[in-house]
Amino acid sequence: GPTRVLVFGASLRGDSLNARLAALVARLIRGTGAEADLARMDEFAMPVYDGDAETAEGIPAGALALRDRLAGADALVIASPEYNASLPGGLKNAVDWVSRVRPQPFKDKQALLVSASPSMVGGNRGLWALRIPLEHLGARVYPDMFSLAKAHEGFTEAGDLTDPALQQRLTESVAAFLQLVEADTRYVCLQRR
Ligand code: FNR
Repeated sequence: GPTRVLVFGASLRGDSLNARLAALVARLIRGTGAEADLARMDEFAMPVYDGDAETAEGIPAGALALRDRLAGADALVIASPEYNASLPGGLKNAVDWVSRVRPQPFKDKQALLVSASPSMVGGNRGLWALRIPLEHLGARVYPDMFSLAKAHEGFTEAGDLTDPALQQRLTESVAAFLQLVEADTRYVCLQRR
């Protein structure tokens, strides 16, 4: 079947710029004929990680739900804010909980990281920080990342990027990422024969 990509907006904020970017990436993915499953952080409520709570109650339902969405996808896109030059605590917490599930769900998962921020850096430092836990867990984080600076004025009413050159670059990045995912899926299928 078609390639399925989980597109995860990592902000809880209702009017999240990263949710807008995630929605655009999902639309670009669908434009190539692949499937996009758009998800938001607020769908996966979970407490701050506590080893005692894990021992007593197991992994919380929100983390298991996120694991299920991840397991159902061939690849992952994360659209994440940058908080204090790093990834948001809530996102790190979600990664920590999900990493406790076996088989470990991030292993060998192809991942594309994108960010949006009203600042001039566009949240790119947050993505570099996010690479560390993801790569540690065996995710194959795509080398090319996309960060939208001045994102509060970066979107048209229709949800495209106001800068056509940036829209072009995002479209190309998404297409190149999907080509890699599809090539990888074919390779894994051959290996399993
Ligand atoms: C921020 N913001 C921010 N932006 C940035 O580019 N670099 C940064 O280091 C930070 N740090 C930071 C810390 C904290 C605690 C908050 C709440 C915010 C601003 C941030 O990019 C902005 O609020 C975005 O709009 C958040 O993303 P969403 O919620 O719009 O997706």
